[in-house]
Amino acid sequence: MQFKNLPDQGPFKKFEDYYLQAEENGQPIAEAGCISSVDADGAPHARYVNFKYFFEDNLIFFSSYSSHKANDFNVNDKVAVNFWWAATNVQIRLEGQIAKCPEIFSDEHFYGREQGKNIAAIASDQSQPIESYEMLQAKFEQTKSLIESGELEEKRPLDWGGYQIKVSYFEFWEASEERLNYRECYKLSGNDWEKFFLQS
Ligand SMILES: Cc1cc2nc3c(=O)[nH]c(=O)nc-3n(C[C@H](O)[C@H](O)[C@H](O)COP(=O)(O)O)c2cc1C
Repeated sequence: MQFKNLPDQGPFKKFEDYYLQAEENGQPIAEAGCISSVDADGAPHARYVNFKYFFEDNLIFFSSYSSHKANDFNVNDKVAVNFWWAATNVQIRLEGQIAKCPEIFSDEHFYGREQGKNIAAIASDQSQPIESYEMLQAKFEQTKSLIESGELEEKRPLDWGGYQIKVSYFEFWEASEERLNYRECYKLSGNDWEKFFLQS
C-alpha cells in the first residue's frame, strides 16, 4: 500500500506506522483487508481485497463495478474494513463511506501496471456465474491471445476501477497478556477526531 498526503490531524499517520511495523516484521500481503458491505435486504457480505493506496483520508482498492460488492455499495455506501496482521498481532478496524474514484485515478493505476496484468480484469465478469472454471480459463486465454496479436487493446473496462473509502472511524487493537487487549479508537465528529478507549 502506498501512503500519500495523509492528513496530520486524526489517526491516519498512526495507521501508517502500524502498517509499516507489520511489514518490517515480515507480514505477507499486509495490504489485504476484509471489506464488509450490506445488500438491499440488509444481509452482510465480507471478502478480502488488496488496498493499494491510502490517499489523504481515503483508503483505496480496485475492483469490478458490476460485482456483487458493487451492487451492495450502490444501495448502501457504508462499509467496514478489517486488517489483522499476525506478524505483530494487531487488528485495525475502519469504517466509512465508499464511492468510486475519479476515472483519471483508475486510469493511472490500470495503465501503470505491468503489461498483461490487466487481462483477468478484461476477461472476467466478476461475480457472474459461469458453468465451469475451465470456461473462465478459456475466456482468459482468448482475451490474452487477442491482446497479444494486437486485435484487442489492453484497455480499462468501463466497469473496472477504484473505490475510495472516506474513513470516519478507526480502532487500533493490540493483543496483550491475559487477554487484556488494548483498544484505542478514533471517531470523526464534525471536523474533529474524538479519541477514546474501549474495554477488551
Ligand atoms: C488476499 C486477497 C486479495 C484480493 N484482492 C482483490 C482486489 O483487490 N480486488 C478484487 O476485486 N478482488 C480481490 N480479491 C477477491 C475478492 O475477495 C472477491 O472474491 C471478489 O472481489 C468478488 O467479490 P464479490 O463477489 O463480493 O464482489 C482478493 C482476494 C484475496 C483473498
